Amino acid sequence: MVDRNGPNRGAVAPGSPQRPPSTFVEQANVADGEVYEEFEEEWPECWERAAALLEWDRAYEAVLEDDDAPFYRWFAGGRLNASYNCLDRHLEAGRKNHAAIWWEGKRGESQTYTYRELFVAVNEFAATLRELGVEEDDVVTISLPMIPELPIAMLACARIGAPHSVVFAGLSADALAARMDAANSEYLVTCDGYYRRGDAFNQKRKADNAVLTVEQDVTTVVVDRLGEALPHVLGENQYDYDELVRAHEGARVEPVSRDAEDMLFLMYTSGTTGQPKGVVHTTGGYLAYTAWTTHAVLDVEPEDTYWCSADIGWITGHSYIVYGPLALGTTTLMYEGATDYPDRDRLWEIVDRNAVDVFYTAPTAIQAFMKWGEEYPEAHDLSSLRLLGSVGEPISPRPWQWYYEHVGNEACPIVDTWWQTETGGHVITTLPGVCEMKPGAAGPPLPGLDARIVDDAGEEVEPGASGYLTLHRPWPGMARTLYDGDDRYVEEYWQQFSDPDADEWVYFSGDAARVDEGGYVTILGRVDDVINVSGHRLSTMEIESAILDVQGVAEAAVVGGTGMTGTHVYAYVSTENDAESDATMSERIVSTVEAAIGPIARPEEVVFTSELPKTRSGKIMRRLLEDIASDEELGDTSALRNPEVVGEIQTATREE
Ligand code: WT7
Repeated sequence: MVDRNGPNRGAVAPGSPQRPPSTFVEQANVADGEVYEEFEEEWPECWERAAALLEWDRAYEAVLEDDDAPFYRWFAGGRLNASYNCLDRHLEAGRKNHAAIWWEGKRGESQTYTYRELFVAVNEFAATLRELGVEEDDVVTISLPMIPELPIAMLACARIGAPHSVVFAGLSADALAARMDAANSEYLVTCDGYYRRGDAFNQKRKADNAVLTVEQDVTTVVVDRLGEALPHVLGENQYDYDELVRAHEGARVEPVSRDAEDMLFLMYTSGTTGQPKGVVHTTGGYLAYTAWTTHAVLDVEPEDTYWCSADIGWITGHSYIVYGPLALGTTTLMYEGATDYPDRDRLWEIVDRNAVDVFYTAPTAIQAFMKWGEEYPEAHDLSSLRLLGSVGEPISPRPWQWYYEHVGNEACPIVDTWWQTETGGHVITTLPGVCEMKPGAAGPPLPGLDARIVDDAGEEVEPGASGYLTLHRPWPGMARTLYDGDDRYVEEYWQQFSDPDADEWVYFSGDAARVDEGGYVTILGRVDDVINVSGHRLSTMEIESAILDVQGVAEAAVVGGTGMTGTHVYAYVSTENDAESDATMSERIVSTVEAAIGPIARPEEVVFTSELPKTRSGKIMRRLLEDIASDEELGDTSALRNPEVVGEIQTATREE
């Protein structure tokens, strides 16, 4: 899989380095560059600093146990509860009236939960889950849009030691069912519906369809988000959230003391095969790592109003809307709406009104802001901002500069944070109070991490050359295994570059990258069959197999095409016996993909071609299709068996 088309992809050269603004450095949480050497010298004990940000029920005996690598154990022997760390201890510290969650709804509603109020809501729902029969280690699936009940349900699960598996609310019934099945999950928390592009979307119907197809019996809790706008009926084994919680008013649930290595949650992500991977994160290492990176990289302080605009349905929201910020006791803003509704200044209006200190978003959004024009941020007072973040995709120097000037007013450092569902938290990024920024390059690995760019043989490549991004040392936030099994975990991440006989374990990220003389890493994108759309990871195989279900389709290849507005899904399709390749078929393909995976996987274009480009050995040459979709110069086509189709495909892509 590594060798698909090699890691040699183009990327824009990084812009010139910039010092972080001195006003920022003076107050930064981490401002001393010695932290890099200290972590080297003290590794792995350096990670005690992360653990020290938490309160432990029982102290750990060892920072790291590596005798069973690559199954590492962090903070072994320690015990703690994540919900206690995100709630109770802040009350004890006299911060009960401090805002924990600041929620901005889609219809202009807003709601604040103080730490005390969040504590009460979480306890009541934890008691509810218990009454429904949820026991320690039972997996609870949560499929909710960006409403407060989502983090409440997560923390309630954490309180009773039941791992949550949050499934992005926009995924299809099939995708939800597959994830519930894989985790053998018997509990689902969902809602009647939510507003999508102004319309009331029926989420419950989707959840009902999913529940019908799973093997096990499922108990469902339904949050009434829409009320009269979308009346719903509860069936057998379905309960109303409010009613249940009301019956447990004032209930208190003792936080269950969990082993540091006990599973905190599962998060499904796309891999190279159609089968999603259930990434397992633990209680101690994950929480310590997200708290540490929120403190050191995002520079969050308890008094801040912090806003990450991701969806909690993905890892970014887990780590940097819920766990990291709440562990630090800050105010985390949660936004349900879109970036351009009611107008294109919506985000800046929210920053202005709430005096947001730290703002963290994705390059796709930044590119859209840039296209809309600087008049939108300029119409608001953004002077409260202290730091800006970017995550999910590479950010090119131009949007970087735009973000720096028009949102940050050249007074806020930008952290371009590279990480993955599997890493739990940031891995490659500048420390904003220490490092120079190089627009277009994410930065050096964080203190204590060891990232290297290697070739096919696993040898480190020269600065400037591209290769595979690998991690050569474990870190507390790392995934521990895949829920589907340890073997798949080793196969997917550790097999390619490790030398088990020498007990040398190397984690392969699936990304290509290059590093400059100064140690700054530029990410070049995935080298496996995964595409990244707006920070959402999609498996090309999963989309292709959906398309192949459409009658009349003979072959399909899906690639990510990257242009000014980010990466989009392009589907190249050939039909059976010249079946009609018309607009109806194109629509059927699009709706089948939406039904199988969800609207996020919707192909931007469906391009019909008489044949797909193939190598002599019959492999579809996706790299070529990617170049065509991205309107880039085509690489070497000499390996093609049917070079004559290239012109046809190019023309057809441009016509779309
Ligand atoms: C993939 C992981 C990180 C949480 C959100 C996505 C890409 C992530 C960057 C960045 C360039 C990035 C990589 C990575 N990616 N951050 N700063 N620069 N690429 O999590 O769904 O697990 O996807 O996102 O390709 O492998 P994910």
